Amino acid sequence: MTGAHPPAPGPVPLACPAVHERGFTAAARRLTAPDGPALRPVTLGGGLRAWAATGPAVARGVLTDPRLTNDIGELGGPVQGFPDRRYPEDFFAHAPQLLSASGERHRGLRRIVAPYFTAAATERTGVRLREALDRIIGSLAGRGRIDIVTDLALPLAGATAGEILGIVPERRDAAVTAALAASGAVPGTEEARSAHQVFAQTVLHIIGAARRSPEPTAATALLHARQSGRIGNAELAGMLGMLLIGTVDSLSTVVPSGALMALRRPEVRHGLGAGHDGGPAYATAVTEEILRLNPPFQHTGWRFTRDDCVLAGVPLPRGAVVVTSVLAANLDPAAWPDPLRADPLRADPLRADPLRGDPLRGDPARADPTGADAHRRTVAGHLSFGHGPHYCLGAALGRRLVHEALTGLFRRFPRLSLAVPLDELTWHGTCLRRLDRLPAHTCLRAGAQKSDSPTAFG
Ligand code: HEM
Repeated sequence: MTGAHPPAPGPVPLACPAVHERGFTAAARRLTAPDGPALRPVTLGGGLRAWAATGPAVARGVLTDPRLTNDIGELGGPVQGFPDRRYPEDFFAHAPQLLSASGERHRGLRRIVAPYFTAAATERTGVRLREALDRIIGSLAGRGRIDIVTDLALPLAGATAGEILGIVPERRDAAVTAALAASGAVPGTEEARSAHQVFAQTVLHIIGAARRSPEPTAATALLHARQSGRIGNAELAGMLGMLLIGTVDSLSTVVPSGALMALRRPEVRHGLGAGHDGGPAYATAVTEEILRLNPPFQHTGWRFTRDDCVLAGVPLPRGAVVVTSVLAANLDPAAWPDPLRADPLRADPLRADPLRGDPLRGDPARADPTGADAHRRTVAGHLSFGHGPHYCLGAALGRRLVHEALTGLFRRFPRLSLAVPLDELTWHGTCLRRLDRLPAHTCLRAGAQKSDSPTAFG
């Protein structure tokens, strides 16, 4: 088969560009319609046509299929509108970093940073971030009203990026702001150009700090790899940028959406407080359900067909863009009956006993220096952390932070309630679906409140 075969007309916008809840729900419903094919034509932000794997089995197949590559450079000439058109996900497709690399180049890059994500490293980072989280939540004491995005999620994202990349505390807020602006800007606009300039400056600061750092971090490891000629300048910058955006985008998205779910569903909030005979393991299983139902990345990064091929019964031309709809896969009723219900006791497709083991301690990178066989040991069956060779390196840390942020928040404020009507919340983004504000009443007793002074992000 040769030439381009455009997908059928009128495909579903994969991550609904309509930022309102109702638009999103409608798109999600179409993507998860049980009678649809497992590989569906979709449009990505910016209008790019692609195919999305929507069921968990096909999604796992796509994420491990050797006929697909993450590296657009392997394709040579322009395909599917590349390289002259620009799309919101450009950074992840074009900057040389883990998610735009495949094969040995990907393994080589992953090997450089994997030591900072082993079980032992995650434990060390996790302990320091637990202290940071205690300080963040402690600083909210006495406030009658808080904003879960600006007062909790963004400071936590800043602390995490700071730990991983060695960003000094006084520069963390600016790094978070720069990452959010760069990943949220519409490509081709003046706003995007200036956001990328600021972002590039932020990456240069991280490199400067790594030069002086006495502490080994993922940033110093990448700098040493550059100095020894294993990677070039573009890979150094691409990797640092990817780690910064990956950390900030994920945490700033999933902590608020998980908190919102707990605010709206008493059983979720109760479960997070381990208010069940299952104790901590039950609360951990609740967090897994929150992660399944609130994947920060609605779809994985782009994969490209290396040649004409038939994927899940669908003939695709060379250079076709294939993604996995994480949300659709996580809502598959065959894998999770009554999928929208958060049910920590449900039998997980990959776990016979949902309360056995502790996913927060599970570390994909423990035995394998690249963490590349992580998918074989993934403790949960959902796809929120991806699957296969690109399985999220920060999964163990991310799980732990989401869990501790949400349990810490509701433990500190057991009567927390939404401070605005649901339809006044604004969702932003395409691949990411993010709230920019989530105001909540702490419901402290009158007289016990201090002023509601905003934090750096307020
Ligand atoms: C709850 C939080 C997080 C979620 C849900 C998440 C999700 C994901 C997903 C879905 C992918 C795979 C994308 C693809 O296959 O196209 C991924 C990759 C990755 N994530 Fe995360 N992530 C989270 C937190 C983090 C954190 C905190 C870090 C780093 C500090 C991180 C670092 C990475 C890296 C380095 C990759 C690329 C792995 C590779 O290509 O080999 N993630 N993440």
